[in-house]
Amino acid sequence: MKSCSLFTRAPLRCMIRPVIPPAGAARRTPRLPLYQRPPAFEANLSDLKKWHDWAKNQASSIGSTFVELDNGPDSTLLLRELNWLVEDAIEQPSVLSSQISGDVNSPVSMRACLDELYSLWKQRIEERRPFQYVVGCEHWRDLILSVEEGVLIPRPETETIVDMADAAVKENADLKNGAWADLGTGSGALAIGISRVSAIRVIATDLSPVAVAVASYNVQSYNLQDRVEVRQGSWFDPLKDVEGKLSGLISNPPYIPSDDINGLQAEVRKHEPILALDGGMKGLKDLIHLCNGAATMLKPGGFFAFETNGEIQSKFLVNYMVMEMKGSFDRVNIVCDMAGVQRFVAGYRAQPE
Ligand SMILES: C[S@@+](CC[C@H](N)C(=O)[O-])C[C@H]1O[C@@H](n2cnc3c(N)ncnc32)[C@H](O)[C@@H]1O
Repeated sequence: MKSCSLFTRAPLRCMIRPVIPPAGAARRTPRLPLYQRPPAFEANLSDLKKWHDWAKNQASSIGSTFVELDNGPDSTLLLRELNWLVEDAIEQPSVLSSQISGDVNSPVSMRACLDELYSLWKQRIEERRPFQYVVGCEHWRDLILSVEEGVLIPRPETETIVDMADAAVKENADLKNGAWADLGTGSGALAIGISRVSAIRVIATDLSPVAVAVASYNVQSYNLQDRVEVRQGSWFDPLKDVEGKLSGLISNPPYIPSDDINGLQAEVRKHEPILALDGGMKGLKDLIHLCNGAATMLKPGGFFAFETNGEIQSKFLVNYMVMEMKGSFDRVNIVCDMAGVQRFVAGYRAQPE
């Protein structure tokens, strides 16, 4: 299940620039990730250590309760997340691990006040708020993406789509010409990923205004405004001007069957947007809509890749595209994710006879 991959964090850290909203900007501005905030707060070392000991105890007391409940995080993972929180919130995190006992009254610079740190860790443990929403970002490929409630936390398995798109461009340089589309862009992960790796122009769309704001923020953080354009609207609606001209189309749409939503772990079920998860009765509603649209939106020879729930959905889509949409697509195939799950369906729009 997708939710288990919420529990990873790539070790990589790179410098990206915080986006300063233009003066008087009316547009909704996403929350600044914790690690990008200025170290405007201080606490003395003794109080900070008290918070840290309390937070460690909270994490340890969970044991495997959440694992047994709904395959949620165990203590080991929560303790790891606590270390990441310390890294993001405290300017010199080593003060907490230092063996040399420092002056307990010495001030420590922090990006959140002590009360907020207590509150954030309570949210993590008691409300099962996803760690990525607590700190306001997720590490994905070589990117650090801002995320918040209302936007799906990008998952590691989705990273493979960037490599699939890059392989297609390397095989046929003509795919670099013309725009690509990332439908249901969420945080903008895929659009930013493919435009950086393959140097292509991407139109990223989403129905959710929060996703549009967060994706725009992330695009700006990576200074990609010239290459990635974010548009709001339902699937192909905002793409009328590029109908039949797209060189590539990628999407990780909602694909969880409606009846499975209640069985997801609390981090996902209670906190991630239902609009990003629920794919209707069999989870195929949006995937089928995307297949139908790909037949008219792509230029002949244009590439597509869609993420699915796994083997059953992937096989259904291949059959649908090859049999029901006979003649519309070429080289339709299933690609596995890094865990060996038959996760993606990819191919090309057929060339005219
Ligand atoms: C599974 S999430 C994927 C987000 C992102 N692409 C990623 O991989 O992390 C699906 C996305 O589709 C968006 N979405 C749902 N219905 C939509 C629609 N009718 N039109 C456009 N986007 C939609 C959701 O808001 C959500 O951002």
